[in-house]
Amino acid sequence: MLIKNIKGLVGLHPKNKLVLSGSELGNLPVFENAWLLIEDGLIKDFGDMDSFPSSIAHLPSYSAEGRYVFPSWCDSHTHIVFAASREEEFAMKIQGKSYEEIAAAGGGILNSAEKLQKASEDELYESAAARLKQMIYSGTGAVEIKSGYGLTVESEIKMLRVIRRLKSEFSIPVKATFLAAHAFPTAFKNNHQGYIDLIINEMLPLIAAEKLADYIDVFCEKGFFSVEQTDQILKAGAAYGLKPKVHANQLSVSGAVEVAVKNNAVSVDHLEENNAATIETLKTADTIVTLLPSCSFYLGIPFADAKSFIKADLPVALATDYNPGSTPSGNMNFVVSLGCIKLKMFPEQAINAATLNGAAAMEISESYGSIAMGKKANLFITKPMPSIAYLPYSFGETLVDTVILNGEIYNG
Ligand code: NIG
Ligand code: FE
Repeated sequence: MLIKNIKGLVGLHPKNKLVLSGSELGNLPVFENAWLLIEDGLIKDFGDMDSFPSSIAHLPSYSAEGRYVFPSWCDSHTHIVFAASREEEFAMKIQGKSYEEIAAAGGGILNSAEKLQKASEDELYESAAARLKQMIYSGTGAVEIKSGYGLTVESEIKMLRVIRRLKSEFSIPVKATFLAAHAFPTAFKNNHQGYIDLIINEMLPLIAAEKLADYIDVFCEKGFFSVEQTDQILKAGAAYGLKPKVHANQLSVSGAVEVAVKNNAVSVDHLEENNAATIETLKTADTIVTLLPSCSFYLGIPFADAKSFIKADLPVALATDYNPGSTPSGNMNFVVSLGCIKLKMFPEQAINAATLNGAAAMEISESYGSIAMGKKANLFITKPMPSIAYLPYSFGETLVDTVILNGEIYNG
């Protein structure tokens, strides 16, 4: 495939640039008036239209006049396998009930778990596949998906098998994260250690045997899993080769970042709550700070302090957190807009955070997340637009026009 007359090729980082930290986030290399050649699903070459090589002039081409070509969004934090939406909680939120109050009133994660336990693997696959398809059409070309609405041996495995099926049916990279430590199920209400033992002694060996997960996650938060419990679970996961990605500091500064970093977490996600000590801890590690502004937007909780993380020279990624309770949206375009509007990131920073750093948070940035020769041709072509900043500026509008996965136009 040959694309000509591209207004701007966006995100041309050198191939060996695998993550962007601090001030590097502000650098989004763009090649104007470009052509791009894709071969065997990979980016083969690109250059200036003013010196278009005659050797490829005979190839059929697509003209992208007035349009930009972006690397696909890399959404490194989602919970898209769920049985039912939770809009009954919507009215409660509008009345001013907090996330914790809704959970205490029978909503929340346990409500989703009850419904998921009753759903079949096929039903869960179909609904998650429909969500994923919609995300792909909005520009996402790599995704991480968590379990965590099963909360029993059988249902956690069921969720992870659904994720495995998504991995094999979709032509984008899918990373699976084991999040049984999402909430204590009702049956273990008075026996928390019993549930942790179940995770460690029953779920983990089965998951490892079937190779169902790439990462392990814990919702480390007051009322959910303590720092000590998180440490125990992450260590058990590590024994099976699962690296941590941790739900940290969503509702309070809980010590989650520290325990995650101590266990070599690939990423710490959320961090709506934060203090100077958290930043000092993060400075000692390579852990990626994944911010989820759609979650803040929907729950009405504080927006993360992206500027402080960037100022501290940390690698910041942006992701959706798509789930039925705190973020019923998988639209990365909106996340990038919120990154700019609410986290006060510049468009260049937000776009880098949603592409290369999102890929880094899934450990796939060698092949995804930027435009470089030899990288995967997972891209999108925008509608005609005046500038790159126009994409986050025109929030709520989807400017993704054509999606290309592995060098082919997506029409799944
Ligand atoms: O990332 N915080 C924990 N998990 C999800 C919400 C899950 C739910 O409410 O169903 C989150 O926001
Ligand atoms: Fe989440």
